[in-house]
Amino acid sequence: MAVRAHPDLGTSPILREVAEGLSAPQKELSPKYFYDHRGSELFEEITRLPEYYPTRAERSILEEWMPELVARLGTRTLLELGAGSAEKSRVILDAMRAAGTAERYVPIDVSATFLSQTAARLRREYPGLSVEPAVADIAEELNLPRRLPRPALFAFLGSTIGNFYPPSAIRLLGRVRAAMEPGDRFLMGADLRKDVARIEAAYNDSRGVTAEFNRNMLRVLNQELGADFDPEAFGHLAFYDTVAHRIEMHLVSDGRQTVSIPGIGQVEFAAGETLRTEISCKHDRASVAALFEPAGLRIESWRTDPEGLFALVVGAPV
Ligand code: AVJ
Repeated sequence: MAVRAHPDLGTSPILREVAEGLSAPQKELSPKYFYDHRGSELFEEITRLPEYYPTRAERSILEEWMPELVARLGTRTLLELGAGSAEKSRVILDAMRAAGTAERYVPIDVSATFLSQTAARLRREYPGLSVEPAVADIAEELNLPRRLPRPALFAFLGSTIGNFYPPSAIRLLGRVRAAMEPGDRFLMGADLRKDVARIEAAYNDSRGVTAEFNRNMLRVLNQELGADFDPEAFGHLAFYDTVAHRIEMHLVSDGRQTVSIPGIGQVEFAAGETLRTEISCKHDRASVAALFEPAGLRIESWRTDPEGLFALVVGAPV
């Protein structure tokens, strides 16, 4: 057995989740464990890499489309799932300000420190906008404030939906749907299926930033759980699965090693054994519809960048 059960195991949901993930035949942990403050910064650095096309492609669609979309919808509240540094939210907030309807911004993120910095900056930049951040693991709950100015736009950008296995993606979209009122809309970014080499290059950058981002999960586990992972003893692996249409990121154990995690026990890694740290599903219109429909959403509009790399989708409640 890879993980020896420990009497404290029942006490913390995180410990339980980590213990479970590390005792599966294919070890696997949620990509949410990348994102402490340094992890959020490393991701920001990824978005500026020449190989990482999604952020620029999405931004170009946002700039082109938001002024018209937001003016047509009359959006008074922007709710953003997984806000991060809210770089792209500014494009939507600018459009709301131009339309004269910018009332409320609700950034939702798992990283509390990053979130409060972002909120403080946005309050300075958008006087008159009420910024009400919510700390939540969107995989579990949305933790939304009640009574928001309507109509609201729920934005889930960056293709973060790709991190979720389809059943969890549908549950997440179902929670968004349940929080929507009739005039509200859902705006989602989806990275599109394309040439495999192009996708794989985006997750294997030449400067090794993605590799550091990947290893940061081990630093987070050391910090948060007092584990003793040696991040340098794990290599970065990212490949595209053409059947499941997704990137998989793994950490590969250089040699045989044993890691201790207080409250969990000893975790053994064989030489070359991998820990899956992320999936990033790639989409087409049909695969997005297959997530939307069971969640009670329909695709109202669909736009891509000129190269067809990335799509922004507007979903309406059915
Ligand atoms: C933030 C989930 C959209 O899947 O492309 C970037 C994260 N991982 N490089 C993605 C990520 C490696 C990113 N998302």
